[in-house]
Amino acid sequence: MSAGASGPPAPHETLIAVDEAEQVALAADRLGRAIDEAVRTRGVARVALSGGTTPLGAYLALGRLALPWDAVEWFWVDERAGAPDGPRSNYAAAVRALGPTASARSHRMEADDPDLEAAATRYARALRRTFGVASAVAFDAITLGVGDDGHTASLFPRTGDVRIDDRLVAAIPARGALEPRVTLTAPVLREARLVLVLARGASKREPVARARAPGPPDEVPARLVLGARGRVVWLLDRAAAGEE
Ligand code: 6PG
Repeated sequence: MSAGASGPPAPHETLIAVDEAEQVALAADRLGRAIDEAVRTRGVARVALSGGTTPLGAYLALGRLALPWDAVEWFWVDERAGAPDGPRSNYAAAVRALGPTASARSHRMEADDPDLEAAATRYARALRRTFGVASAVAFDAITLGVGDDGHTASLFPRTGDVRIDDRLVAAIPARGALEPRVTLTAPVLREARLVLVLARGASKREPVARARAPGPPDEVPARLVLGARGRVVWLLDRAAAGEE
C-alpha cells in the first residue's frame, strides 16, 4: 500500500492497495474504525452503503470484525427498482455480505414500490426521524463507487441529477439500459463524516482521474466528493490509480 501525494487537497487521503485483498482489508478497517469511534462518541453509528460489485468483499470482511453491532444502523446510498431479494438489489447484496449483524437495524430503500417518488419521500422521512429535523443528515460513514461513466450513487452524468438539492432522497428515472433508482442526493452525501470511495480495475482509471480533477460535477458526478465536508478516503487499487 502507498499513500499518494497527488490528488485533491486535504482532508482527502488516497490509499493505493497492491491487490484486491489489501483493498478489502483496508476498507473494512476504515469502516470499522469509523463505526467504533461513532459508537464511542455518540452512542450510535449510522452507515450508508453503496451497491455495485466493488464494495462487497469489504462488507464481508467488515461483518467479521468484532464491533458494537447492536449500535450500528444501516442505510443505503442508492437502490435499484426491483424486488428486495432480487439479483440486482443493493440491499440484498449488502445484507448477504455483512451477515446477521446487518439485518436487525437495516433501513432499506423500498425501490420495489412502483411509485419511486413515494419511496424516496418515505426514505427522506425515515432520515429525518433518525437525524432530527434541525440537524444535517450526517452519516458517520458512507461508501461510494465510481461508475465507468463517472456516476456515483445513482447520480448520472449530464442529467442534472447531481444538482438536486431540494430533497434528501430522489427518485431517478431509467437511464439508458439502467433501471430506475432511488438515491441519496449530493447534499446528503457531502455531509458524511467519512466518505470512502472504492474503485478497482483498469476501467476505473479514467473516471477516477476525472472525478479527482476539478470541473463541473454534472459531467462527472463522482466529483461531488470534492465538496465533501468530512474526511474523504480514496481507496483504489493500482490499476484504478493509473499505476499499472
Ligand atoms: C449502484 C451503485 C453505483 C456503483 C457504481 C460502481 O447501485 O450501481 O451504487 O453507484 O457504486 O456503479 O459499481 P461497481 O462497483 O459495480 O463498479
